[in-house]
Amino acid sequence: MCGIVGFVGQAPAMAPLLDALKRLEYRGYDSAGIATLERGRLARRRAVGKLKNLESKLAYEPLVGCIGIGHTRWATHGRPNEKNAHPHAVDGVAVVHNGIIENHRELRKELKSNGARFTTDTDTEVIAHLVSQQLNKGYEPIEAVRAMLPRLQGTFALAFLFEGYEDLLIGARKGSPLAVGYGTGEMYLGSDAIALAPLTRSINYLEDGDITVITRQRIEFLNAEGGRVQRSPAKIANTDVSVQKGGYRHFMAKEIHEQPRVVGQTIAQYVDVGSAAIKMAEDLSAGFRDVNRVSITACGTAFYAGLIARYWFERYAGLAVEIDVASEFRYRNVTFAPGSLAIFISQSGETADTLASLEFARAQGQRVVSVLNVASSTMARASQIVLPTLAGPEIGVASTKAFTCQLATLACLAIAAGRGRGVLSADDEISLVRALGDVPRYMTSALELEPKIHQLASRIAASRNALFIGRGTNYPLALEGALKLKEITYIHAEGYAAGELKHGPIALIDRDLPVIVIAPSDVMFEKTMSNMQEVIAREGRTILITDRNGASLAPPGSWATLVLPDMPTLAAPLVFALPLQLLAYHTALLLGTDLDQPRNLAKSVTVE
Ligand code: G6P
Repeated sequence: MCGIVGFVGQAPAMAPLLDALKRLEYRGYDSAGIATLERGRLARRRAVGKLKNLESKLAYEPLVGCIGIGHTRWATHGRPNEKNAHPHAVDGVAVVHNGIIENHRELRKELKSNGARFTTDTDTEVIAHLVSQQLNKGYEPIEAVRAMLPRLQGTFALAFLFEGYEDLLIGARKGSPLAVGYGTGEMYLGSDAIALAPLTRSINYLEDGDITVITRQRIEFLNAEGGRVQRSPAKIANTDVSVQKGGYRHFMAKEIHEQPRVVGQTIAQYVDVGSAAIKMAEDLSAGFRDVNRVSITACGTAFYAGLIARYWFERYAGLAVEIDVASEFRYRNVTFAPGSLAIFISQSGETADTLASLEFARAQGQRVVSVLNVASSTMARASQIVLPTLAGPEIGVASTKAFTCQLATLACLAIAAGRGRGVLSADDEISLVRALGDVPRYMTSALELEPKIHQLASRIAASRNALFIGRGTNYPLALEGALKLKEITYIHAEGYAAGELKHGPIALIDRDLPVIVIAPSDVMFEKTMSNMQEVIAREGRTILITDRNGASLAPPGSWATLVLPDMPTLAAPLVFALPLQLLAYHTALLLGTDLDQPRNLAKSVTVE
């Protein structure tokens, strides 16, 4: 949510800043802007909408300064227009911000009564005014930033540029991620390692409360108390930052097609191939003996992965599971009992609500396990145990491969829990692990349905609404299918437990409402078929997604049927996710929406 970058070097900052912003555009694309110093004076260019608008502007009016900051915005306070685009500048101080300043109204009032004149509707502008106020008192930039920071409530990652200081960038963080990168005779700052990847692989993450002082030759860190702190740079692997479309039209298509490989490698890291047993940190597997309850917290698609895992923890490990979206969990009066394990799931490892919930659980003395895709994220650093998903960078805003890798990891964790608690036998473990081992193969077959799904998509594209139904683990999958469709096509879609249909949504059924029925031939199959019949009886149009066995048993009357191979129950949610993703993708293609960067959304949600 908002990307920030900074550059100080010997060559013009514009090109590397633009390049870094392109790599951060998945964080927000309401507006973008860059500020540099030209002969010591601030020069700014800003534009509404996608980064390409800023690029066009810069083509006519380039910036030549060798030091600069840049921003790509996901609007929180103030409409997405040029006036509200970052960097904000006041009296020779320019700032870019990711986060929310919660006390901005009080600060604005106070600053106004002292004569400050505001030119934007943003919360961020108060920061520039506060720093400028300190500079007017005679403070040097570092002292001015330090003196001002305690006045800010809320979350922030900030980068500052000061008129007259050609060799100084200052960064600060509280709650929102920020990294610095090391070059030779030039240094960088960015929201994440992906932004800095073409410039350097040597980076360092700011800790909460840190201030960083960046010049061409060095980077220093001050902690919240103003003391100097040492931080050793980390080397970032190529695979963690590669963001190419690899010949696909969209990142989403590439990420959908990568699933057999990345899910395979995610499973491989948790499986001992020789014994077909799960291998996890010893204390984690053994620790399940003392666990009697699991809580799962996440947002968005990661939350749906958690909902599916709930069925697995109950079925394979006999564990009681409590699950909630992080934005609710963090404000409920949750009581933590001894013997519970708190699991957090996140692709980015930066989602503000999930992070706050994790910190809350830790403060309550909970054991915390996180399932994360970004190994260097804030959540990874705040967790006792991290279970990495090896999806690689996910750039499409609608999550696909991160979801199935989360499922793969959670399935392994549930099996480990079942073994640790003595619910599963060694033979059970072997057959479940084998089922997971076959997932990449089933996924490859699922991808072969793409041409048929493309045809079906035209039917969905002609609809204004869609309903997704399923039972058991297919119910959360229905929620995920509906989320994918609405995120990238803007068609209103709902996911429902098939058994709940008769308690309300059946009133919606008519010839114009496609109903996507997710029904592998598992123990719930017949019941789901009854619900499908109820839809068909009311002239509803159903699209059945099932396996070969299910297709042979299903009653006639469906509008269309997508047939996957027969597979074990544990594998089904991972594989059935793919036709749902492809259905959303091809519908969006037909509708011509911006499917990698759908309107109003951002990938990394670092505000509440
Ligand atoms: C945003 C993204 C979703 C994602 C959710 C949680 O809403 O658009 O795709 O599922 O955040 O993100 P996380 O990084 O915590 O998994």
